[in-house]
Amino acid sequence: MQTAVGYQTERLHKTIAKRTKRVYDHLAPMYPASTYFFHRKAHKIALEMSGVRNGMNVLEVATGSGEMFRQLVRMNPSGATCGVDISPRMAARTQSHARKQFPKASLHCQAVDCRSLPYRDGSFDQIFCCYLFELLSTDDIYQTMEEMYRVLKPRGVLTSILIGQQVEFFNRAYLVAASVVPAFWGRQMDHSAPSILEATGFRVTGERLVKQSFYPSRILTSIKS
Ligand SMILES: C[S@@+](CC[C@H](N)C(=O)[O-])C[C@H]1O[C@@H](n2cnc3c(N)ncnc32)[C@H](O)[C@@H]1O
Repeated sequence: MQTAVGYQTERLHKTIAKRTKRVYDHLAPMYPASTYFFHRKAHKIALEMSGVRNGMNVLEVATGSGEMFRQLVRMNPSGATCGVDISPRMAARTQSHARKQFPKASLHCQAVDCRSLPYRDGSFDQIFCCYLFELLSTDDIYQTMEEMYRVLKPRGVLTSILIGQQVEFFNRAYLVAASVVPAFWGRQMDHSAPSILEATGFRVTGERLVKQSFYPSRILTSIKS
């Protein structure tokens, strides 16, 4: 018999990029509220854990509406900060808000599918990827991690944030929400993330569990080894 999780994963596998792009495109103007209420605290701690410094080449994969991206640009005024998101509206919003706030910074955000990153091997010192893997099938997570591995410099750092699985009632609510709008919620997968990172060649160096209100996050730092 098919379990609820198995059903979700299968649907996700079939429906992934096009529907996700459409859903997040529609939500772009409202999305900053979701970041403020659920992701802000984890973003702050992830920045502290990452070791990102001014002057680096930094990439954010799946910028959403750009709240983390602007913090990265603020911390990296003399370096270069790039971003990608599959939703053209999210990418455009991220680019225009960051440009308005930091007119002189070297920054560029574009609409790109993370499964094929348009950068040369070894381009970045640091990559950030927050709340994306839930939206990708397992094969696509591998492909995306391989792409991130490729574009990182040797000993470069990947900081990822996943939706945590440490709160039981949240897990149950998530299953319901994800069965209604799988393209928005995807499925929780923080327990498998470290092994996929290690299988792709990363070495996991740090981990923190964080809660903002009832919303759990898991932050992982890993090094290209
Ligand atoms: C849950 S939001 C997280 C946004 C932001 N990183 C944050 O921390 O608030 C997921 C984002 O991933 C983007 N996304 C989903 N699939 C993607 C793909 N295949 N390539 C690039 N971005 C993708 C969506 O458009 C959306 O903006």
